[in-house]
Amino acid sequence: MNKRWGFSTTAIHGGKIADTHKSVAAPIYQTATYYYDTAEEGARLGQEIPPGFVYTRWSNPTTRALEEKMALLEGAEDALATASGMGAVSCAVLTALKRGDHAIAPSAIYQATYQLFAEMLPSYGIETTLLPDTDTQSYERALRPNTRLLFIETPNNPMLAITDAAKVASLARAHGAMTIADNTWATPYNHTPISDGVHAVVHSATKYLGGHHDVTLGLIAGSSDFIKKTKKQVRILGTTPDPFGAWLVIRGLATLALRVERQNATALRLAEFLAEHPSVDRVHYPGLRAHPGHAVAAKQMRGFGGMLSFEVKGGYGPSVRVFERLEIPKRATSLGGVSTLVSHPAGISSVHMPREVRAAVGISEGLIRVSVGVEDVDDLLGDFSQALNPAHLS
Ligand SMILES: Cc1ncc(COP(=O)(O)O)c(C=O)c1O
Repeated sequence: MNKRWGFSTTAIHGGKIADTHKSVAAPIYQTATYYYDTAEEGARLGQEIPPGFVYTRWSNPTTRALEEKMALLEGAEDALATASGMGAVSCAVLTALKRGDHAIAPSAIYQATYQLFAEMLPSYGIETTLLPDTDTQSYERALRPNTRLLFIETPNNPMLAITDAAKVASLARAHGAMTIADNTWATPYNHTPISDGVHAVVHSATKYLGGHHDVTLGLIAGSSDFIKKTKKQVRILGTTPDPFGAWLVIRGLATLALRVERQNATALRLAEFLAEHPSVDRVHYPGLRAHPGHAVAAKQMRGFGGMLSFEVKGGYGPSVRVFERLEIPKRATSLGGVSTLVSHPAGISSVHMPREVRAAVGISEGLIRVSVGVEDVDDLLGDFSQALNPAHLS
C-alpha cells in the first residue's frame, strides 16, 4: 500500500484509470473489443497489457482500475478480477497445481471450494487432503513430499474458526509449497494475509467488497508472476468479469472501511447479546474471549468481522422457528452486504457437504449463520430478541 495513505484514501484514490475527461467517478468501458488502425498497432496491443487493450476477455480499463486498487489494498504486487468468487478460487488453485501434486484444505470451507478440493481436483489427478480442523499441526501432519498448496479460509465458513495465517504460510514456505488464503470474510480492512507471508489471496467480491448485494465478481491478489500465470487460466477458461461489475466493486470499495467498521461493532454487540441468551447454546464469533481462535484473531485482524453463527437450544425445529421469525434479516444465501442476511447451514447452505462431514466439522442441526449488515444495532438486537423468545420455540 502507498505508505502515505491509509486504507480509505487508498480505496478511494488508489489505482489509475485512463480517462481523458478527468471524470471523478471511474468511467465504465462497456466494450467487448477495441479497434486499431494499423496491423503494427494491432500486433503491439496483442502482446501484453499494459500498454494496450485488445479484447475485454483479456483486459478492460475499468476492470484494470479495480485490479490496481485491490493490489494496493491487499499489499500485493498485482491483482486480477474474475467473473465470480469461485472463478477466483478455481483459477488461482488451478494455477498453483498440476497433475500429481497434493493440496491441503480444511473441510469447513465455502461449499463450492469444498467440492473443488473433494471432487474436481482429484478427477484431474491432483491429490487432496481435507482437514477436520484448521490447526497448523493438522496442516503439518497432512504434508506429503508432493504437497504444493495449503489453502486457508479465515475466519471460515460457517464455524468462524481462525487459522494462524503466518504459521501456515511459514510451514508452506519451508516445504516449497504455496499458501492461498480466501480473504472474503475478513476483507483487506480486517486482515491482509500477504503481510503474514501468504502467497496469494482470493475473494468473492460479491460479498463485502461490492457490499450491496448487486454484483457477482471475484479477485485474486499476489505476486506479479503468479497473477501473470493466473491471467492465462482466466483468459482460457473465460472467467472474465463484466466491466459494469468491476465498476460496482470500485464503488463498493470506496465505503468498505465505513461498512466493515460498523459491521465489526454490530457483530460484536450481537454476539455478546446471543452469548447471554437463554435460548442459545453456543455462539461462534472470534471477537468473544471464549472463542478458541480469539488470541490468533486478535493478533492478525484489525476487527473481528461481521460474520457470526449461533446454535439454538433444541436443534433443528426450534432453530428453523427462530430463523423464520426474524423480521429484519433476509433469509438469503450470500453475505457481506448492507442488509443483514441469515442462513441455516444444516437445512440449506451446506447441504452439498455430506451429513457426516458437516457433523465432524461442528455444523450442528440448530446452527444459524448471520451476516451482519449496517442497520441500526438496536433494531437488530430487538429483532433477535423477539425471534428467540422461548415462548415460540417449543
Ligand atoms: C468464503 C467464500 N469464498 C468464495 C465464495 C464464492 O463466491 P461467488 O459466489 O462470488 O462465486 C463464497 C460465496 O459465498 C464465500 O463465502
